[in-house]
Amino acid sequence: MKYMSGNELREKFLQYFAQRGHLRLPSFSLIPENDPSLLMIGAGMAPFKPFFTGKMKPPCTRITTSQRCVRTGDIENVGRTARHQTYFEMLGNFSFGDYFKEEVIPWAWDFLTKELELPADKLWVSIYPKDDEAYKIWTEKTTVDPRQIIKLEDNFWEIGTGPCGPDSEIYIDLGEERGCGKPDCAPGCDCDRYLEIWNLVFTQYDHTENGDYIPLAKKNIDTGAGLERLASVVQGKPTNFETDLLYPIIEYASRVSGVAYNAGEQSDISLKVIADHARSIAIMVMDGILPSNEGRGYVLRRILRRAVRHGRMLGIEKAFLADAVDVVADIYKDVYDELIVRKDYIKKVISVEEERFHLTLSQGISLLNEEIEELTAQGKTVLNGEIGFKLYDTYGFPCELTSEILHENQLVLDMDGFNKAMQAQRERARKARQENKRIDIPDLRNLDVDKLSSNAAAKSAKIVCIWKDAQITDALHDGDEAGIILDVTPFYAEGGGQVGDCGQLIGEMGRVAISNTKKLPNGTVYHIGYVTEGVIHTGDDMKIEIDVEKKLASARNHTATHLLQAALKKVVGVHVNQAGSSVTPEHLRFDFSNFEPMTKEQLSQTEQMVNDEIIKALPVKISHMPQDEAKKQGAMALFGEKYGDIVRVVTVPGFSMELCGGSHVENIGQIGLFKIISESGVAAGVRRIEALTGKAAYEYTKKQEVVITGAAESLKTDVFDLNAKIVGLLQENKEFKHRLNDVRETVAKANSQKLLSDAKQYGDLNVVSGKVDAADMDELRSIADTICSQLKNGVVILAAALAADKVNLVVKVSTDAVKKGVHAGKIIKVAAQVTGGNGGGRPNMAQAGGKMPGKIPEAFEKAIEILESQIDN
Ligand code: ALA
Repeated sequence: MKYMSGNELREKFLQYFAQRGHLRLPSFSLIPENDPSLLMIGAGMAPFKPFFTGKMKPPCTRITTSQRCVRTGDIENVGRTARHQTYFEMLGNFSFGDYFKEEVIPWAWDFLTKELELPADKLWVSIYPKDDEAYKIWTEKTTVDPRQIIKLEDNFWEIGTGPCGPDSEIYIDLGEERGCGKPDCAPGCDCDRYLEIWNLVFTQYDHTENGDYIPLAKKNIDTGAGLERLASVVQGKPTNFETDLLYPIIEYASRVSGVAYNAGEQSDISLKVIADHARSIAIMVMDGILPSNEGRGYVLRRILRRAVRHGRMLGIEKAFLADAVDVVADIYKDVYDELIVRKDYIKKVISVEEERFHLTLSQGISLLNEEIEELTAQGKTVLNGEIGFKLYDTYGFPCELTSEILHENQLVLDMDGFNKAMQAQRERARKARQENKRIDIPDLRNLDVDKLSSNAAAKSAKIVCIWKDAQITDALHDGDEAGIILDVTPFYAEGGGQVGDCGQLIGEMGRVAISNTKKLPNGTVYHIGYVTEGVIHTGDDMKIEIDVEKKLASARNHTATHLLQAALKKVVGVHVNQAGSSVTPEHLRFDFSNFEPMTKEQLSQTEQMVNDEIIKALPVKISHMPQDEAKKQGAMALFGEKYGDIVRVVTVPGFSMELCGGSHVENIGQIGLFKIISESGVAAGVRRIEALTGKAAYEYTKKQEVVITGAAESLKTDVFDLNAKIVGLLQENKEFKHRLNDVRETVAKANSQKLLSDAKQYGDLNVVSGKVDAADMDELRSIADTICSQLKNGVVILAAALAADKVNLVVKVSTDAVKKGVHAGKIIKVAAQVTGGNGGGRPNMAQAGGKMPGKIPEAFEKAIEILESQIDN
């Protein structure tokens, strides 16, 4: 076995495969392109997913790389085993529908045993149990000892969604003394004896979003060999950390802390953690990742803060990670130019984040230590999630860090409680961001406003002032919301009824999302921003990205507002004047003076006129001229606005001319479509039109279309015949109702006759009681009236069941019967109670509702009882 440096080893591998027809490509960035299933590149094959699935054609069907990778799934093992790291390089050779197992297995064997001269008798191989093909090739085409081939069920490789397949892994036996000593220790065991040095994946499937494994059209090869692991083998080192790819950082940490390597188990772990983490963060920042509380930025923050904490454990009190970048850059000086070129920048990003963490670390640690002591004293094992969240929110402790410190003390964090507190805080922050459109402004008298300017074409600017919580400040960190002033701004500031522009400021060290742009009374434009990543400072140069979609949508609505005003003057009259307006990306609202609601015809004519203009697709002209000149030319001035001497005039040739400072489309054709959605009154003499343009107008009409075609389908007719069909149906319905009433009357009459013939005598009273069909109380009452009018000394007690739980009751008493002491109200009261209801009324007429139709017969019995008692008295 020959000693090789890490760089030599990488070179040897890439050359070996280049000689076998592979295109040699540099490593891709850690930030995946177009792959939302991955946060960061964690395998050599990840950037090639579309080549495997056939969605894209590779530049060559054979490629080889040494890919930068970050994996944090096993972060707590870093420093504790010989082989775990968060950052590593993966050597790989790939076949996209080119060679398969037959070629790759002998090549891997040849590279390891001939090129690296690894002892064949120490090499072991694992295969997927059903993969007889791989077994055959291993036994027939290589010199591996068949007794050293084992079958493992979990030999199937995948990452996120996408290409995957069964694999075959190669291990080296590092000797019994490195093992766990368990009788079943074998390749695949967690201990350090059998080191997996290469994984050959036979990529045959596409793992889809919905969990299916679809066979790929062509078979592929994806291999991965950890550079640091192989280096530890060829360099004869007990762990990856002693290789030349990491050891210089251990030496650095040892120098800074004054703690020698090999001085103790715990301090060695910390030195190794620092070596690994310092390298990870340097390369992550090199690849454009900035610290933040989300996504990749959070991974970076978490790794960095973990490294700082291990530094503390070694007694390092000052910031030390930025200087570690020098050491990392030296290791990679011949490989990653960018580490050298951007070294100062990388150091700055790291040092800002590190300093920030240092500020609160000691306080956080002592708070956590107190909690640990208390829990331990009380014999408890779980730290309250709220406290974990406080450590995160106030002291910047990633929850994984808190968990880890707790774990070292045999305690755990209540994750549910932590997540709940986090959720509640996010909700509060979201609300605050929504509500807090107003940012309290500090004293800006010292600002040299003459040097500030607006320029719609500006693509970059310098930050000249930042304030947060009404205090001027020099820096903002991710999560901060603040007011920002730029030396030159292309953002349109809220005004003239139009909302302010949104967008992004992108600096070298941080990004800001701009949610609104406003103006101070002196005209200074300021931006309301939320830092999403990293840090920004006064003086930073920022690239500017305006949210052009939103801006264009606002512009459509603004120009359409001008067209609307001009059309209203023509359709409704010259007295129409603007009384207020609101232009947002979503819609436009125009208030105007007019005493009557507009007629349907006027609305339709107005809408038509605006659309007729739009299809002329004329350019919008923006010009500046003295106010008097503008007025002379007939420009409309907005109600209640003040103008300087020189004014901005927006003209749609031949149709509209207004003084206006807002954003407009370049050509009215861009408005696409104008659709009025409502006209209403807002105050005496003021009407309001709400309208949509562009995509929103199209979507609105589309929604209407869906409803109309749905209705036409239900009525089994064509949309254009829909109205005639509905009118016909309404007419039919009216006729049915008439006929139904006739039928009801006939039935009621017949029923009344039947009831009359069944009349019973109580003393000299003639009493009719019974159930009838009556759709409502009116109908029931009229039946009772009809019957009663035909009776002398009559009492009529009727009930109708309207539903399973609804009963109507009526009692009608003739005048002569009332004189005999009969009281309808008292009778119905009792009867209604029997049916679960209540009611009452006058002596001659009473009505009530009940809930139990089943009880109607019982109610009649009760009613008669009461009636009898009334005449007895
Ligand atoms: N893609 C395979 C792995 O990462 C080679 O192990």
